[in-house]
Parts: sequence; structure tokens; C-alpha cells
Amino acid sequence: MKPLSIGIILGSTRQGRVSPQVGNWVKDIADRRGDGNYEIVDIADYQLPFFGEGTGEEPGLIAWPEKLTSLDGFVFVVQEYNHSITGVLKNALDSARSEWNNKAAGIVSYGSTGGARAAEHLRGILGELLVADVRTHPTFSLFTDFENFKTFKPAELHVEKINEMLDQLIAWSGALKTLR
Ligand SMILES: Cc1cc2nc3c(=O)[nH]c(=O)nc-3n(C[C@H](O)[C@H](O)[C@H](O)COP(=O)(O)O)c2cc1C
Repeated sequence: MKPLSIGIILGSTRQGRVSPQVGNWVKDIADRRGDGNYEIVDIADYQLPFFGEGTGEEPGLIAWPEKLTSLDGFVFVVQEYNHSITGVLKNALDSARSEWNNKAAGIVSYGSTGGARAAEHLRGILGELLVADVRTHPTFSLFTDFENFKTFKPAELHVEKINEMLDQLIAWSGALKTLR
């Protein structure tokens, strides 16, 4: 059977963002498992127009659903902006539809309260997109898992939680593949 393809989606695109550090750290743990092909999916690479405002022919707008089609599951790297997800992540979610359906997702979040409020908002959106989000949700504190809010230095205990989340994500991604 073909290995599962899992996209680790970086939810922020701002200059100076920390999401690449978090995404790469998750990917390092995931790659050691040998149970799937994990890749970083950076929304910034797609330069998605704001939904409905482009010509519909922007290369990124075509490449984005194609990338999602190639994936069996997702890890969302979520940061809390004003108690919710970023505008760019919401726009990226809106910029595809059927390509999300019947797939699984795990959420990793960070913020002053671990990004919990943003992650819970994302769960509601994922329901509408027929994405099954797994229970285990590793959360990172801006105060204790980052140095100066900039350099990611996660506490060791998070490694176990990441693996627990990935166990659930791989199981559900495999199961949901049979529906597609
Ligand atoms: C516009 C904006 C709003 C924010 N609002 C919150 C918030 O409501 N709660 C919180 O915990 N952190 C908040 N933060 C702090 C971010 O979680 C923190 O800056 C984080 O590093 C952002 O992720 P990024 O570096 O990947 O962009 C906010 C940051 C920005 C830029």
C-alpha cells in the first residue's frame, strides 16, 4: 500500500513568524516514525488571493487544491491571532472545498494560552469541511516553550504528545482513505 502523505500546514505567513520552527520540529519527530511521507506545506508559497478577489487563474490558486488533493491528512500548525486562527489560514481553508473532504487532521498550536482558543475555532471550521480532527492536541506556551517569544525551545514532554497525536492522525487518515 502507498504510504500516507501528510501535509504539515504552516498557518502564519507574516515576516518574522515562528511557525516554520514549530513545523520543522514536528516534521523531525514525524520523519523518525517511518509511517508516512510528511511534508511542510507553506501557505506563503501559494500567494493565494483573498477569496473571490482574484481572476481565478492565479498559479497559486490552481496549485493549492492540487497540493491538497495529493495529501491524505494534515497537521495544522496554528497560532493564536485575536483569539482565533490567522486570516491567511482561514482564506486557505476557504480556497478549496472537496479537496479537504474525508481526510483527517491533527492540530498543534501556540500562543499565550497554548493557542487553545484558535485551535477550538479551527475544529468548528474543519467539521464543515468534512475533516476529522483527532483528539490529542499538543499546545505550546509562548512563555515557556519559546525564548524571547521568538526561538522555539519546546519542553521535552511535548514529544510524547506529538507522537500520540500522530498515532491518531495516521490511523484516521488510513481509515478515511477508504471513503475516497
Ligand atoms: C495580530 C496578532 C494577534 C495576536 N493575538 C493573540 C491572541 O489573541 N492570543 C494569544 O495568545 N496570542 C496572540 N498573538 C501572539 C501570537 O500568538 C504570537 O505572536 C505568535 O508568535 C504568532 O505566530 P507566528 O509567529 O507564527 O506568526 C497575536 C499576534 C498577532 C500578530
